[in-house]
Amino acid sequence: MTQTSYGLLKGKKGIIFGPLNEQSLGWKIALACYREGAELAISNVATALKMGNTTDLARICGQAPLLVADATSDDELKALFSELKTTLGEIDFIVHSVGMSANIRKKIPYESTNYIFYNKGLEISAISLHKIIRYALEAGVLKDNGSILALTYIGAQRVFSQYNDMNDAKALLEAIARNFGSRLADRGIRVNTVSQSPTRTSAGSGISNFDAMYEYANLLAPLGNANGEECADYVITLLSDLSRKVTMQNLYHDGGFSSAGISEKLLKLLERNQPEAGV
Ligand SMILES: NC(=O)c1ccc[n+]([C@@H]2O[C@H](COP(=O)([O-])OP(=O)(O)OC[C@H]3O[C@@H](n4cnc5c(N)ncnc54)[C@H](O)[C@@H]3O)[C@@H](O)[C@H]2O)c1
Repeated sequence: MTQTSYGLLKGKKGIIFGPLNEQSLGWKIALACYREGAELAISNVATALKMGNTTDLARICGQAPLLVADATSDDELKALFSELKTTLGEIDFIVHSVGMSANIRKKIPYESTNYIFYNKGLEISAISLHKIIRYALEAGVLKDNGSILALTYIGAQRVFSQYNDMNDAKALLEAIARNFGSRLADRGIRVNTVSQSPTRTSAGSGISNFDAMYEYANLLAPLGNANGEECADYVITLLSDLSRKVTMQNLYHDGGFSSAGISEKLLKLLERNQPEAGV
């Protein structure tokens, strides 16, 4: 990762939903936004402020306002955007780095899903993007020609067995991004998703067999897995004016994983572990 600032977000303001701790993708994105000259606000749910160290991030990012809201709560989001308007003013970008599945956490198989958890997972991981955009619009806080970005995973397109109901949540998240992208284009506002490699974070590590999924992706992707800092650098380009005609896209940031079938490294590994003929 380069520490160089290109000043790509100089003069821009934005809010980042979901930084929990130093491993969080949202955390790394906030640091990169700040490095690139943006003025920030940071948000997370109240319980996360006790579990993580989001307050430290706010301090590091130029005493960024820390706005507490459950991203599934209409009232809390309405209050957040009204507060944002007075603390930061109108904004150029929104980053959605929020996700959670209680079915995954409690290791409940997809076939016997708990529907309360399933609905909650969709609310937190996907519908929250709808609510965030909606209430930002209703508060009149989003500037023209801005950028909205959400983080996703290739489970939206292909089934990753241990990704469970998050496969479904990511498919919905990407659909919401496309729908809003088409509706906000007349104001020059782009809406995209970045489909990131498996990354060691709180959410990532909660997935059963995460290490195996991580290694598999790393062996298949021609460039290897993209790490959190690299994700943040890529996100910067999508928040900047350099990508002003990119919208309604799901953009893979995965070292080429999404276009790969098999790799030499995986072939060698599988050949070494092949059962003997006839077995
Ligand atoms: N880690 C990976 O392997 C990976 C890969 C691709 C995409 N992603 C996506 O990146 C995003 C960030 O996840 P991460 O891996 O950095 O993990 P993380 O656990 O650091 O971040 C998830 C965040 O969601 C927040 N959150 C949960 N419920 C919320 C609620 N009701 N309201 C507001 N915030 C809430 C958590 O507090 C946490 O800060 C998620 O959308 C995740 O699915 C992660």
